[in-house]
Parts: sequence; structure tokens; C-alpha cells
Amino acid sequence: MRGIILSGGSATRLRPCTKVTSKQLLPVYNRPMIYYPLNTLIKAGIKDILIIVAPERAGDYLNLLGSGKEFGVKFTYEIQDKPKGLAEAFIIGENFIDNESVAMILGDNIFEDDFVEAVKSFKGGAKIFAKEVKDPERFGVVEVNSDWHALSIEEKPAQPKSNLAVTGFYVFDHRVVEAAKQTQPSARGELEIIDLHNYYLRLGELEVVPVKGGWLDAGTFDSLLAAQIFAKDKMQDKMII
Ligand code: G1P
Repeated sequence: MRGIILSGGSATRLRPCTKVTSKQLLPVYNRPMIYYPLNTLIKAGIKDILIIVAPERAGDYLNLLGSGKEFGVKFTYEIQDKPKGLAEAFIIGENFIDNESVAMILGDNIFEDDFVEAVKSFKGGAKIFAKEVKDPERFGVVEVNSDWHALSIEEKPAQPKSNLAVTGFYVFDHRVVEAAKQTQPSARGELEIIDLHNYYLRLGELEVVPVKGGWLDAGTFDSLLAAQIFAKDKMQDKMII
């Protein structure tokens, strides 16, 4: 299994803090934000990790993270020229993925759960991880039946069909690369990850797994503040890096 951390974007919602640095390099309590998703991938047993960054920040990531040797893993770097959507990561990462399965995590997502079993038991198709939230309209939203089979998935719906947010950790088989190439930009001009989920949903190969522990996306000032406290109180004993 290969791993991708998507750490691009311009984070305009966090200006001026992100004027001269990347959101995912901002401190979250005692570590740069990206350490948390990186920790999640490494703990899941993933050793081959592609870090996708914005061109103007590439040097900072290289300085901070280096080759990966320090963490017992191997890093590869790629550039996302413009924030053209999460699904583009699989097009940028095509050579890296090289017909393997791939786990992707967003550089601003902090999870208490570990995903060892979810990764180990992955056979094919797609696995997404959902968490009940109070503000589902901020996220991808999945509607499930009583057996947790997905019924529908929508990106930031004005009228969410459930309270289940699709979190920023995903596992796909190699077909995700071709699926990503087939997606068309949405109204906001991005290749949407939700289109990939719907691709696997139509094939009947989308599995939805509940996230049991805490989860935060640190993309706004309020969620960044919450992430600081969450990291101090809940994450310290979960960190191996
Ligand atoms: C992205 C995804 C969304 C997902 C969220 C999780 O949203 O598009 O489906 O729920 O990450 O953090 P963004 O944070 O890019 O607005």
C-alpha cells in the first residue's frame, strides 16, 4: 500500500497566517500540523509516502521532513501547481501509485484512531471513513442505511441528508487513477474527491467505516484553535514522530 499526503492549497481562509507559509506547516500545539496525518500513515504501516505540496512551499517541506529516513519511511515529493482539487492528487501521483492500492490523507486532518486494521484488511474498491458532526454542511456528507451501506454522497450540501462527514482519510485501489482522469471540474473549478467516491459507489465497491475517536480538520481559525487543544489533550500519547 502506498500513501499520499495532500498538503497543497493556498489556505486563503487562514490569511494572513498563511501568507508566507503553508497551512499544514503551522503549529498545532507542539508539532507542525502535517506531523499528525504523517503519524497516522506511518502508524498504519505505510512506508512509501508521496507528499504533494504547492510550488512556492516545496523547499520548506523538504527542509522540515527530508528523505523520511529519520521516520523510518521514504518520502517522494510532487508539486500541485494550483489548488485544483483533491482528486487531482491521483493524477499527479500516477507514477508513484504504479498500480498499487493507495491511502490518502489530507495534510490538515487530525485523527485519534489508528487505521492499521482498515489498511491491512483492504482488498480492493474504496474505503472511506465517516464521523458524526454537528456541522455536516462544511464537509462531504455520506448517507448510510442501518448496515452502513452508502446510499448517497454529496460535497458540502446545503441540506445534508445525514450528520456523517466524510473525513480526509481514504483508501482506494489502483483504478482511482483512471477514475480521477475521468472527472470534470466542479462549479468551484476543482476535481472533487466526492466524484471518486460516487464512482466506486456506482460499482457497488464503496465501503464506509465509522471513525470512533476524535477527528478534526484544521482548516479554519476556529477548527485550528480546537485542534490545538485536541492535540494537547488527546494526541500526545498517540504520536510516534
Ligand atoms: C475536503 C473534502 C470533503 C471532506 C473534507 C475533510 O474538503 O472535499 O469531502 O469532508 O475535506 O476534511 P475541504 O477541506 O477541502 O473543503
